[in-house]
Amino acid sequence: MQELCQVGTHLHAMVGPMGIPSHIGDCKKVVCVGGGLGVAPVFPQLRAFKESGTHTIGIIGFRNRSLIFWEDKFRACCDELIVCTDDGSAGIKGLVTEGIKRAIAKHSDIDEVVAIGPPIMMKGCAEVTRPHGIKTMVSLNPVMVDGTGMCGGCRVKIGEQVKFACVDGPDFDGHLVDFNDLMARLGRYRPAETEAMQRFDESCRMRAAAERLALEQEPESAAAEPEPEPEPLVDRPSTDA
Ligand code: FES
Repeated sequence: MQELCQVGTHLHAMVGPMGIPSHIGDCKKVVCVGGGLGVAPVFPQLRAFKESGTHTIGIIGFRNRSLIFWEDKFRACCDELIVCTDDGSAGIKGLVTEGIKRAIAKHSDIDEVVAIGPPIMMKGCAEVTRPHGIKTMVSLNPVMVDGTGMCGGCRVKIGEQVKFACVDGPDFDGHLVDFNDLMARLGRYRPAETEAMQRFDESCRMRAAAERLALEQEPESAAAEPEPEPEPLVDRPSTDA
């Protein structure tokens, strides 16, 4: 979309934003947890909590130090920040669930935990907070097709109910989400996703090779074909006798 839409491009139509906005309640102390790419979408919520006067504890998790991003943004909006890495190359060694355990051990008055990341991570966060009865909101990412609640592609099980993440979510009570069902549904599309990624990689490699070739040939073709004489800006007087 970004490649296709330049200044001046006309779009036929646009729909959105879809779903229900994240609720920034009046809690006094919140923990916002982001795992991997989930770090980016949890940031606006963390900032909104901070702006509403909430004591904010950020927990961000990455596989290793080289993958860390936005640490400075989080520090600017957090009263406390816990960085976790799987290999211990930065912050504490361990998953974000380890960070949540530390935050709970230090603060007995946490009102809410917001967790965004891979389903297995959000499931782990919900299991850590469940025994403490801490409200835990997660943002679900089932495959979406129409985004209007009609196709049913994004259905998720929340307690005894079936909901559509595109219109009823994406935020749900993590203690009610059937994560096993969500992960099973996401896994169903994995072969198709792998195939699509292979095709995408292949097309990227071909495009890169074509661009390299064009660059290599550019000087030769420029030398072979001299620049044409520029057209005169005014009419020359006729030389016909
Ligand atoms: S994407 Fe179709 S119902 Fe949600």
